[in-house]
Amino acid sequence: MKFSDNFLWGGATAANQCEGAYLTDGKGLSLVDILPAKTEKRNEALFDPKQALATNYQYYPSHESIDFYHHFREDIKLFAEMGFKVYRMSISWPRIFPNGDDEQPNEQGLKFYDEVFAECRKYKIEPLVTINHFDTPLALFKKYNGWTDRRLIDLYLKYCEVLFKRYKGQVKYWLTFNEINMILHIPFLGGGLDVKSTEIPEQLKYQAAHHQLVASALATKLAHEVDDENQVGCMLVAGQTYPYTCNPKDVWAALNADREGYFFIDVQSRGYYPSYADKIFREKEVELEWAETDRRDLYENTVDFISFSYYSSRLTSADPNVMEKTAGNIFASLKNPYLKTSSWGWQTDGLGLRITMNQIYDRYQKPLFVVENGLGEKDLVTPEDEIHDQYRIDYLRENLRELGAAIEDGVECLGYTSWGCIDLVSAGSGEMSKRYGYIYVDRNDKGEGSLQRLKKDSFYWYQKVIATNGKYLLEEDD
Ligand code: BG6
Repeated sequence: MKFSDNFLWGGATAANQCEGAYLTDGKGLSLVDILPAKTEKRNEALFDPKQALATNYQYYPSHESIDFYHHFREDIKLFAEMGFKVYRMSISWPRIFPNGDDEQPNEQGLKFYDEVFAECRKYKIEPLVTINHFDTPLALFKKYNGWTDRRLIDLYLKYCEVLFKRYKGQVKYWLTFNEINMILHIPFLGGGLDVKSTEIPEQLKYQAAHHQLVASALATKLAHEVDDENQVGCMLVAGQTYPYTCNPKDVWAALNADREGYFFIDVQSRGYYPSYADKIFREKEVELEWAETDRRDLYENTVDFISFSYYSSRLTSADPNVMEKTAGNIFASLKNPYLKTSSWGWQTDGLGLRITMNQIYDRYQKPLFVVENGLGEKDLVTPEDEIHDQYRIDYLRENLRELGAAIEDGVECLGYTSWGCIDLVSAGSGEMSKRYGYIYVDRNDKGEGSLQRLKKDSFYWYQKVIATNGKYLLEEDD
């Protein structure tokens, strides 16, 4: 198992799940800012945003979150102590353009990220920036129904131009959209759109996706024009789908399930819609509107690398009688009897990461970046303020060993940023108690707590993994 000397070890967060300070220094509302906690039916709100907007909830987890906005110096210092080489974070679009279509950017918002990047540079941590991580300004949802409207492309590009110019020399790695295929599953967070009252929701979702794909291509072009050092990646919710049996019908179902996500990366990496797209559109009664220049823009501006999130593999069957399901990252999967399951129903499959990496690399032959991976679990703080999260270490070790094996297989991988390196608010459930971090944050599901940061056992473990450039993964017993 050989990680290259410049392998980028680190962790990942997103502005909308950690910053808090939801109206501070001129920030506009983010999509998540109207979503309640799990106890107040967050899931319903996620799929009925108009209703959510009209409701006064008791508690909004994103409003304060872990208050990274006021703790970033302390937090980045802890990342440095673990030895991070890279920190994946996102910029909050409504912090820069509060309404999304403002004439001028919000200087205070820009200044905040100046300070964050300076802090990273102080410790020689390379920022990896997601430009839009579930964070289209809420005002654009209200005014345009989000990405269904083609005007979002220009608004996004204006935002990108501000970022590329302002942070030139500070940031070199960019991701255009977090988990771009999520727009099909959580359209409100993925693209600021409401599909509830539409007759053909797929029409709106794929049209919005098309706009994002064109925007991503044009942002890639712009990033390269502003600074030829810039490296731009796409970002996919990955996780190989296994067939439930060797019945060819199951194999065919699994192949098609994976195509749903690869569809996006095919466009971003190859520069054109895949051959199977027409059939999908026919079956779903989707008729896309294209501008004359779209085909050219997609073709000429493909991404430099491919990033993805991986939490688990998935399982599918063509037989509707195979029923036993389990939860996964937003969409459920059939339960795989060979795998362990977390308290939230997500399954652990380290080898699935190796399979997924080989599959993606075979398909695109571009460098990969694993930008999300991790285990969301409840943690217990002892009276001595210790957190013994051996379950998390086990999950991460299993996954990282397989990542190393994929590199041995010949897969080119730039780095690894585990998700939620510091505890933050869950995107799916709004809970704090679903913790992924190496760093514990004292805050509960009701928003109570001191916000104090504590180091978990996994903090010291990851520190050793990074210090030995992965060798420590092999020194340990299972
Ligand atoms: C990914 C997202 O889907 O999974 C993150 O990019 C999210 O924003 C992560 O937090 C884990 O999901 P959850 O629902 O456990 O927060």
